[in-house]
Parts: sequence; C-alpha cells; structure tokens
Amino acid sequence: MDLGLAGRVALVTGGSRGIGRATAHVFAREGMRIAIAARGAERLAATAAELTALGAEVLAIQADFGRPSEAARAVDETAARFGGLDVLVANAGGSVGERDLALSTDEDFDATFRFNVGHAIAATRAAVPHLEASGQGSAIFVASISGRAPSTRGAQYAAAKAGLIMAAKNLSWELGPQRIRVNAVSPGSLLFPGGGWERIRAERPEDFAKFEREDFPWGRLGTDTELADVIAFVASPRAGWVNGTDIQVDGGQRRPSIR
Ligand SMILES: NC(=O)c1ccc[n+]([C@@H]2O[C@H](COP(=O)([O-])OP(=O)(O)OC[C@H]3O[C@@H](n4cnc5c(N)ncnc54)[C@H](OP(=O)(O)O)[C@@H]3O)[C@@H](O)[C@H]2O)c1
Repeated sequence: MDLGLAGRVALVTGGSRGIGRATAHVFAREGMRIAIAARGAERLAATAAELTALGAEVLAIQADFGRPSEAARAVDETAARFGGLDVLVANAGGSVGERDLALSTDEDFDATFRFNVGHAIAATRAAVPHLEASGQGSAIFVASISGRAPSTRGAQYAAAKAGLIMAAKNLSWELGPQRIRVNAVSPGSLLFPGGGWERIRAERPEDFAKFEREDFPWGRLGTDTELADVIAFVASPRAGWVNGTDIQVDGGQRRPSIR
C-alpha cells in the first residue's frame, strides 16, 4: 500500500532513540522529510546520519521537552527549514521522579505532566497553522497502555498518559474544522536495543522470562518497529477517517507492568 507520505514533512519529538527513531526510519523509507528532536547531540547526529543514508532530508534539533516552549521552537524550526509541516509525532515522554506515592513529590507530578502532556499540547498549538495549510495535517500523541489500565505504582505517569489520550480526543473536535486529525497510540511494553526493557532483561532474566510468559498472549514483548508502522499508517492520508481515537498496539497485553 502506498501511504502517500512521500515528500511530506514530519517532526518526531524524542526522535533520536527508541520508538521515535524507529518512526523516523519508517518515515524515511516512505520518502518523507524529517525533523528529529531530543536533548543529546551525539545520538541526534547518529540517527540523523542513519536517516540521511536512507535518502531522507533531515533536520536535527536539540531541545529539552521538560520545557513545553521548546516544543514550539522545534515546530517553528521544522517549518522554517522545510517550508511547512504535515505530520507531528509527539513521542517524547516518560515518568519523572519516584514512582511510589510516598516517595514522589508534587514536583515529580508537575514535571511528568509538563513533559508528556505539556510538550504535546505546545507542539500542537504551534503546528496548527502548518497542519491546516498541509490539507492532510495529522498529529499523533504517543501515550501508553499505562494511560488505559491501572498498575501498582507510577500514578503520575498513568495520569499523564490518560490525560494525553483525552487531549488527543478533545483536540480532534477542536481542530476538526481545520481538517487536522489528532490521534493517540498506546504501546504496550516494547523491547528494543538500548531500551528500558532490554536493561531489565539483562539485570533480572528470570523475572523478565516470567513477565514474557505471563503478560503476553504471544509470550513476547512488542518491538519499536511494530509500533512505528502503525504510527506511519495513522499519520498517512490512507488513515484519513481515523480521528480522535487511541490505538492500542500491545499484542494483547492490555495492562501495564512496572518491574
Ligand atoms: N518503550 C516502551 O516500552 C514504551 C511503552 C509505552 C509507552 N512508551 C512511550 O513511548 C515514548 C517513547 O519511549 P521510548 O521507550 O522510545 O523512549 P526512549 O528510548 O527513552 O527514547 C526517548 C527519546 O526521547 C528523547 N528524550 C528523552 N527525554 C527528553 C526530553 N526531556 N526532552 C527531549 N527529548 C527527550 C531521548 O533522547 P535524549 O535522552 O537524548 O533527550 C530519545 O530520543 C514515551 O512517550 C514513552 O512514555 C514507551
């Protein structure tokens, strides 16, 4: 299937590693022009080189999305470089601070919300004129199954991801008149080189094996590419009637595990 993304412009926040990097790779193979944004200059440069080798035009932006204004700057720089923006993937995210309620602070909660929800909202606000001008503008928020089902710890992350999912649904209505689609995708636990689950597998192999056996219908975690392919489809005009929804990409896992 031709996704119809060739020549279009994407910004992927957190695009230097993990899910964001895998998404940028899929976009490059689809012939898109791509901006990737993250904090670490070295990883950014390495991923930009990979994308260039795939034939893509690439812009690497150093930014810290703990400050939402940085997300707006990343959008502005992308549009200035490529003359517009068709696809925004707000992917950067994670839990800030301690995960146990008793140990976590109010600042951990604020920072987790700012990072996950704040940066996605600021990026979308800045992107609206460009996404509208695109005629096929699409914003995708990378949430989590943690925003859909409870776990035993990590309330600030769960609440932020739930907020992100609802923000996508709400914005799909607010931005509908401008013909901008807004969706969330909610990955389950994904295993990829350099990721958190790979580290846990190395540190606690028996616990990890039990996790794989008991929490997944297929007895394995998902991969970053299995999620990136779905993001690319949702971003594309072939998913033009997919709007205001949250797509679970978890192989049937359904509930998060904090280990
Ligand atoms: N991996 C999973 O199993 C899983 C499951 C469910 C949901 N998710 C969600 O998927 C998204 C991506 O996760 P991932 O596992 O691919 O993450 P990752 O491997 O930790 O990669 C995160 C990316 O974001 C960048 N980043 C991290 N903190 C940043 C900040 N403050 N400002 C700017 N960039 C930042 C990283 O580069 P720098 O560190 O250099 O900045 C990197 O490019 C997150 O929203 C996460 O919550 C992941």
